[in-house]
Amino acid sequence: MSAVVCPKYGPPEVLEIREIARPVPKDGEILVRIMATPVNSADVRIRGLVVAGFMRIVMRLVLGFNKPRNSVLGTVFSGRVEQTGKRVNQFKVGDEVFGTTGFQLGANAEYLVVPEKGCVTHKPVNASFIEAAALPFGGQTAIYFLEKAKIAERSNPRVLIYGATGSVGTAALQIARHYQATVTAVCSTSGRSLVEELGVADIVLYDQEDFTKRPDTFDIIFDAVGKTTKQQCKHLLNPGGRFVTVDGLDVAAEKKEYLEFLRKLFENNEYDAVIDKVFPLAEVVAAHRYVDTGRKKGNVVLVVA
Ligand SMILES: NC(=O)c1ccc[n+]([C@@H]2O[C@H](COP(=O)([O-])OP(=O)(O)OC[C@H]3O[C@@H](n4cnc5c(N)ncnc54)[C@H](OP(=O)(O)O)[C@@H]3O)[C@@H](O)[C@H]2O)c1
Repeated sequence: MSAVVCPKYGPPEVLEIREIARPVPKDGEILVRIMATPVNSADVRIRGLVVAGFMRIVMRLVLGFNKPRNSVLGTVFSGRVEQTGKRVNQFKVGDEVFGTTGFQLGANAEYLVVPEKGCVTHKPVNASFIEAAALPFGGQTAIYFLEKAKIAERSNPRVLIYGATGSVGTAALQIARHYQATVTAVCSTSGRSLVEELGVADIVLYDQEDFTKRPDTFDIIFDAVGKTTKQQCKHLLNPGGRFVTVDGLDVAAEKKEYLEFLRKLFENNEYDAVIDKVFPLAEVVAAHRYVDTGRKKGNVVLVVA
């Protein structure tokens, strides 16, 4: 099968498409024929080992010292169940699924083996494979941090999303709205129309206005891009308010229940898969170069089949 192989940490050009052996599912595992798989900010960080200071050592220990231990990149997938191992109960051949592999990687390939009890479930019935591949990364991260800020326990919360146009930001806007939040989004002028399309009216353009000088206050401030600090905006928090950020040591959990929640939102038309660009698998280097800019809007997806 074809797979995106990362033989060493480095720039996008280190990546190669190679023919490798197709995995075989063991007991309790499913073999997924991958249809689409995104290139997200985590993938480019892993490829380039782009982490600062002490975390660089942690990343090497977790992922592999000079190259990823699993040299096939990719953390998110959508596809069809091709084969099931023994004692698989939740899936059958032909089921359309989506999921994540976390630090196990391996999703930028034609086939992937995952445990049925892992982070995989049936994809939304109304989502294309490309859309389904665009849901988990930003979606799971946004759910995790908004849960941490106890969004479900707040009544009609006022929520500010800083960095509203990335994969995490676009997900956060939509999840906050599900909780009846009044949302203020901070983005650049080039992101304004996207944020408006996602239903947010109160927008601060960071290239024209300093959001920290606004008179409004919020129950939750979520930095979805890791470019502000609690220090800069704590005066904007209501009593009992929470500042949460993707920047720091806290790594968002990946859970089957998060995928099921995203499926429900998508099927209820409460959630859009925001897709910036789609590349064929063979153009993975171009996809990584684009994601490396840090300027993508929403998600970038590789089509595999
Ligand atoms: N802790 C965790 O568990 C976790 C999980 C997932 C992601 N992350 C981290 O979260 C960050 C965001 O991830 P992502 O996948 O959403 O990234 P992304 O999609 O690559 O984010 C790109 C977006 O950020 C916007 N942006 C860039 N600079 C900005 C600034 N100074 N102010 C506001 N917006 C800005 C860009 O819009 P403009 O160019 O128009 O400004 C672009 O739309 C990454 O650093 C990632 O590593 C952490």
